[in-house]
Amino acid sequence: MPVETTADLQKRAVARAAAQRVQPGMRLGLGSGSTMRHVTEAIAARVRAGELPGLEVVPTSLEVAALAGRFGWKLSSPDGPALDLDIDGADEVDPELNLSKGLGAALFREKVVAEAAETFLVVVDQSKWVDRLGQRAPVSVEVVPFGYQAALRRLAGYGRPQLRLQGGRPLRSDNGNLLVDLAIVPGEFPLADLYRELKLITGVVETGLFLGLASEVLTASAEGIHSRQRP
Ligand code: A5P
Repeated sequence: MPVETTADLQKRAVARAAAQRVQPGMRLGLGSGSTMRHVTEAIAARVRAGELPGLEVVPTSLEVAALAGRFGWKLSSPDGPALDLDIDGADEVDPELNLSKGLGAALFREKVVAEAAETFLVVVDQSKWVDRLGQRAPVSVEVVPFGYQAALRRLAGYGRPQLRLQGGRPLRSDNGNLLVDLAIVPGEFPLADLYRELKLITGVVETGLFLGLASEVLTASAEGIHSRQRP
């Protein structure tokens, strides 16, 4: 049996806490990544116990849609009424609750769903907290394949861009696009400027910078679960 790391145990603990925020009949966004797999399983346990009738789930990736489908949940899209709640993980969280996301390649759909939700709850373990975004993970950037090298050259004005590979081939997002890992010097550019300028590069669909979107971050650490809310 695989040995669970401290981070795994923390992810499970924060997942159970996040699952308690779900209420019957909610339109619920479900993020992607390993922490969210634990959250999804914790929600499934509550559904099985009959605590959450009438859930309508908006998945942020094909993988999450498949998982939710296996549980027999009603799947929906971000089009339509606002989502009551979106729960998602993050690669980094800074003290202002800005996030870097996208190591799981689902950043575009994750952002669409987060923006469609009244409340965006983020679940992380302690290791994800940083003083400045870019310290522990590159900025993920989704790029249209056509003419992507021009976009890479322009991204090089902001850091070291590297096409993300999987099995030696360029990784494609669920939208058929490429992923670029942009290693930045943390703090070199104000985040809002960086975000705006990256978005203005032709071919860039979206970035993993989620600025000012998180309503609350739930963190698991050795001391337990703690919550930070957007002021
Ligand atoms: C998916 O594209 C990402 O945004 C994930 O939310 C993020 O990578 C966190 O993943 P883990 O929970 O696996 O660390």
